Amino acid sequence: MYAFQLWREYKLSIAEIVALFPTTRIEYVDSCICILDTQNRDEVTKKLQNIWGTIKCIELFSNYTWNVSASISKHAEDFQGKFRYGFSILWDNKNLKWILIETKKTLKDNWISSRFINKDFKNLSSAQIIWENLTLRGTDFTLIISSNNTHYFWKTIWVQDIESYSKRDYGKTRDMEVGMLPPKLAQMMIHISWWSKIYDPFCGLGTVLIESILMGNSEVYWSDISQENIEKTKKNIAFTQENFFNTLKVSGVSVLDAKEILTSPYIKKCDSIITEWYLGQIFQKYSVTEKKLAIEKKELLDIYTNFFEWLKKTKFQWNIVICFPFWDIKGKYFYFSDIYAILEKYTKIVPLLPKLQNIHHTRSWSLLYKRDEQIVGREIFKLKMK
Ligand SMILES: C[S@@+](CC[C@H](N)C(=O)[O-])C[C@H]1O[C@@H](n2cnc3c(N)ncnc32)[C@H](O)[C@@H]1O
Repeated sequence: MYAFQLWREYKLSIAEIVALFPTTRIEYVDSCICILDTQNRDEVTKKLQNIWGTIKCIELFSNYTWNVSASISKHAEDFQGKFRYGFSILWDNKNLKWILIETKKTLKDNWISSRFINKDFKNLSSAQIIWENLTLRGTDFTLIISSNNTHYFWKTIWVQDIESYSKRDYGKTRDMEVGMLPPKLAQMMIHISWWSKIYDPFCGLGTVLIESILMGNSEVYWSDISQENIEKTKKNIAFTQENFFNTLKVSGVSVLDAKEILTSPYIKKCDSIITEWYLGQIFQKYSVTEKKLAIEKKELLDIYTNFFEWLKKTKFQWNIVICFPFWDIKGKYFYFSDIYAILEKYTKIVPLLPKLQNIHHTRSWSLLYKRDEQIVGREIFKLKMK
């Protein structure tokens, strides 16, 4: 079995895992961990290369005897030189100090020279695990205590390399006015859609396209109402090809108002639309009011209605993964509920999560993404045209 430690927006992380392992049984899931019942290490390690909603992946030990120090000590017998290791407990780690001391003592009793790298008896961060090379050594251990008090234990096989992640983002043209889709979210949306030939009709700065190229995609299409943003996207894609991957073989680009999607040459070429819609103007924390929001929604609704009405006429049958805005005014969420009627009229909403006892979609079958300090959040849907 493999345990996936989930990212902050854990529901999206679960949706990504489920999209990548559609036929694998979920052994256990909560807001921090998703455990998959699979023995296929090759499949897991391959998929981890592009997974972004998971912070760390732990291979679980099927013969765990409820004795951390004995298990670690047994494992250490095969190592040459000083045994350097880390140990974390998810989530209630009040016994961490005690177990670390106990393990050190057991190792010493077995004549094994060792050092744990936990600082101040705290769980290890991804950066510490990477820095100390513990994944390659196979010496970062985690005890997971589930809400029903089942214990799962063994070693980390992968951690997300945050540094290389920010490096690939570096150099991209940024523009706060356009509003950039967070790359992590873009990647998860691509996995959720089951990507292949992606079309983004609101390309902005091209985040969706770039992330799909970085995942090895060879065919992308994009359009936007703004010539300027089209050019920025071209520049960002060129940067990606020069500095990272150059797998792109087929592409297409036009200036196009999404209200006229019927005239887009890419609808017939792509097999998924993945897009963050125009989220509307950038509101400031103290200037946003319900009245301003109502005006904004009216304008957005006009674009959205036309888009779906005309898309229906194209008989587009593939997956659509899309974000709509919602707003946080002084702690209260205002959803773009007017859009729900349009979705109802033209689309079928595809659930992003399987049926789980403890974790659910929103009432409108979407999942949410929002940073604490942001006024605009994103409501994510997977759709098919009716
Ligand atoms: C928030 S950005 C999209 C971000 C983009 N998906 C990304 O991955 O970076 C919104 C984009 O919608 C474009 N836009 C606004 N109204 C539009 C319309 N009617 N048709 C097409 N594009 C439009 C804007 O020019 C802007 O580039």
